[in-house]
Amino acid sequence: MLLNDAKIATMSKGKPYGLIEKGAIRIRDGRISWIGEARNAPSGPRDEIVRELEGRVVTPALIDCHTHIVYGGDRAREFELRLEGATYEEISRAGGGIASTVSATRATSEQALLKNCLPRVDSLIAEGVATIEIKSGYGMDIQTECAMLRAARSIESHRTVRVRTSFLGAHAIPPDYSGREDAYIEKICIPALETAHAEGLVDAVDGFCERIAFAPGQIARLFKRAGELGIPVKLHAEQLSNLGGAKLAARFGAMSADHLEYATDEDAEEMARAGTVAVLLPGAFYTLRETRPPPVEAFRRHGVDIAIATDCNPGSSPLCSLLLAMNMACTLFRMTPEEALAGATRNAARALGLSDSGRIAKGLRADLAIWDIDHPAELAYRIGYNPICERIFEGRCDAC
Ligand code: NIG
Ligand code: FE
Repeated sequence: MLLNDAKIATMSKGKPYGLIEKGAIRIRDGRISWIGEARNAPSGPRDEIVRELEGRVVTPALIDCHTHIVYGGDRAREFELRLEGATYEEISRAGGGIASTVSATRATSEQALLKNCLPRVDSLIAEGVATIEIKSGYGMDIQTECAMLRAARSIESHRTVRVRTSFLGAHAIPPDYSGREDAYIEKICIPALETAHAEGLVDAVDGFCERIAFAPGQIARLFKRAGELGIPVKLHAEQLSNLGGAKLAARFGAMSADHLEYATDEDAEEMARAGTVAVLLPGAFYTLRETRPPPVEAFRRHGVDIAIATDCNPGSSPLCSLLLAMNMACTLFRMTPEEALAGATRNAARALGLSDSGRIAKGLRADLAIWDIDHPAELAYRIGYNPICERIFEGRCDAC
């Protein structure tokens, strides 16, 4: 298939958006076999399908690189409590927050976990998302952690989307292990990781390094085991305070450190050295009415790649729109629309260790989004508006 007469945001580095004003893309066997100026396109086979895009914008399909989209129940009541003045941390310490989703998730069957998350997944797909990272972390026992990961993986059998799973057993301290965090890591979290890994369910290991969750030493213990199993790591770090999570992530060569509102210039320096991507989550910043934005300028200065994700979860970020996350990244964090798009494509791919997605270049997967807009800056500009024309997943159009 040849996509002709397109404005292509390749997202390759070098010029803004890696833009080709009047370009063409040839797709073969699910991959991009040629890309360049339309006038230079070599002629293809006689029976080749040629799609005239009449100047529409083509970008890499979007990648949501940080979600907790599989869970039981909801936390609308907690939303009301927060509006009455309670903080996320207070609700969490009183047994609400993540712990309440743990109870609800344990009480939900694997089939129902899948069924409940599909409308949220559909909302992302409708915006041109082709890859979604999904974390466990609302089970916190071996059985439910694995059930969450299996439910996440089974999305691929029900929807045309790629799923990457992260084991987040170190997300919160279950009530029966309160004050015994080390025991939880040894007796539940690491055995759960080993079981999930043996079932082939784990693409990465994640943790929550925070006062209301786990200390750096406990996360280090988990990361060490991940390293022995050959699994890459990532970390929720410096969201509510600075505990040294970003530096720890860098020390373990993490693919990403996520949230980072309380990260420092030094953290950015260490992350740059390690090649750790900064995943920023403006949906959580907005929902929790945070006032301290992550140090975007330090990330730029040190050359840390920045990704943007929804953090879709029932508590701190009930957000099912990556386009809105991009808009929020610009308005709340002062990122540019180009940085926001790179954050949901090229850098999101890096945060997941995917070397064949997130850009439009020869040999990469033909995961593309075609938009009814004149310029790629429009993607982050409008609020509550979805200009998708069509999504192409591994060379196949959703509509054809
Ligand atoms: O990324 N920070 C910790 N974990 C989630 C919150 C999940 C929840 O509140 O249920 C986050 O914001
Ligand atoms: Fe998260």
